[in-house]
Amino acid sequence: MDNSPLQKARYAYTPKIPKILSSDVRKIGAKLGEATEASTDQAELKAIFPKTYGMPILEFVPGDNPKANERKAVGVILSGGPAAGGHNVIAGLFDGLKAGNRDSRLIGFLGGPSGILDDQSTEITAEMVDRYRNTGGFDMIGSGRTKLGTEEQFERCAEVCRAHGISALIIIGGDDSNTNAAILAEYFRQRGEPITVVGVPKTIDGDLKNDQVATSFGFDTATKTYAELIGNVERDANSSKKYWHFIKLMGRSASHIALECALATRPNIAIISEEVEHDQTTLGGIAGEIAAVVSARAERGDNFGVVLIPEGLIEFVPEMKRLIAELNSLLAANAAQFAQVKGPEEQRAWVAQGITPESAAAFASLPATIQRQLLMDRDPHGNVQVSRIETEKLLSDMVEAKLRELANSGRYKGKFSALHHFFGYEGRCAFPSNFDADYCYALGFTAFLLVAAGRTGYMSAIARVHRPAAEWIPGGVPVSMMMNLERRHGAMKPVIRKALVDLSGKPFAALAASRKEWAAETAYLYPGAIQYFGPAEVCDQPTITLKLERA
Ligand code: FBP
Repeated sequence: MDNSPLQKARYAYTPKIPKILSSDVRKIGAKLGEATEASTDQAELKAIFPKTYGMPILEFVPGDNPKANERKAVGVILSGGPAAGGHNVIAGLFDGLKAGNRDSRLIGFLGGPSGILDDQSTEITAEMVDRYRNTGGFDMIGSGRTKLGTEEQFERCAEVCRAHGISALIIIGGDDSNTNAAILAEYFRQRGEPITVVGVPKTIDGDLKNDQVATSFGFDTATKTYAELIGNVERDANSSKKYWHFIKLMGRSASHIALECALATRPNIAIISEEVEHDQTTLGGIAGEIAAVVSARAERGDNFGVVLIPEGLIEFVPEMKRLIAELNSLLAANAAQFAQVKGPEEQRAWVAQGITPESAAAFASLPATIQRQLLMDRDPHGNVQVSRIETEKLLSDMVEAKLRELANSGRYKGKFSALHHFFGYEGRCAFPSNFDADYCYALGFTAFLLVAAGRTGYMSAIARVHRPAAEWIPGGVPVSMMMNLERRHGAMKPVIRKALVDLSGKPFAALAASRKEWAAETAYLYPGAIQYFGPAEVCDQPTITLKLERA
């Protein structure tokens, strides 16, 4: 396969790393903090994680680690959707492991968590790592969405690790995968299995963060990629002056991506799902608000604009949230029966008799395409696949209908022509921004340090990432302190608390302070493409969200 000029240039890029990571690995010690507590459900979590609850947060500092040179085999798994920088996590992990002992081995399980269950693996060599340094994608070993959750699967993991002589597993994934990593760590400890498990925070969605974990990797690159595209669309809108662009942005439930992109591009409208839920705005209410902006801009002669819509919006609209929850339960409990129901009409009738009359009415009010999308296969965690629901079309149709009503009563004289976009997959495998390339390398190297320090049930974490890389502080955070109990498939389960947009946080406040002006004026900001080489103020900046949250 040929390499593009940028790919060749990126091979030569050296990630900027925290100062301590350039020391001899034997001279990096773990400084332990106080015992930790989860913020809620402490007693229950302590009972579920007797061996790994309450462990201290740790920081890597100059010190001693006599075990850093031990020869070992480590397994690595990429889990879930791709996020830029995954290859650098593996590169950092590999370099750390080899700095400890040249004969240590890194085993990559292929195709995600199923790779360990099926014992499909490859030894990651120096040559292989060099071919993937600073590149996007997860194609080095592949990823997948198989969930590691049952005792039988845990036992199989132990068996496969034993067969390869693996004493540590690194699981690179989102909140669900890290939750399962922590449960696996506890399982191994309880059974005296000498295998440690360390997680790495990945997801473009940006919803795996808390006081200790500043951000998940991939969010930076994805939002910068989408912001470039949105800026280009804005400039086209302002040049042609004839289209309203409805842009849906990936991000699953949380609206972090939409919020960050709005701050970076200043569109006319940015919907934030968490606000919709807080205000209990209905779908009709959202369409009405958009129509009001369209009509006000038309009065100034501006029959164009840009609307950002978070992927998960529909799950936050009160009547839709109820409907989706009821559909999830109905389909989960009757999957086999539903599979026998053929034809859209028959499926609609079958669904209507299994949900409440209110939800049946909400379902009936939706266009047939959206109804079909709501009934598509669930993901392995039982959730509706929001990336496949065309909310952008649904909303623009509803806005058009509202505008027709306004026009009929003489209150709107503009022209409305809508175009639709969905930016999602375009941003997950881009060449990692310098931030993600640096951050991921540091996360991977730190994962090795956690292994070398004998830690299990920890997530690799880098503090102070809003500062230049030399000031970053590598460390580890016990996953059990990030957990709470949530109802899943009818039972209370320990899960990492998902971070949604905080309506009292600084990033949302920044949007709220300016959006009136952005709606009326054409205040677009054009961020342009990610820059990899050049001045730090252009190339090395973290997201606006991270700066506002941490500064
Ligand atoms: P992760 O949570 O696994 O990182 O995946 C994120 C994501 O890109 C979501 O934003 C999106 O809803 C989903 O994956 C799409 O899933 P798939 O890749 O299976 O189509």
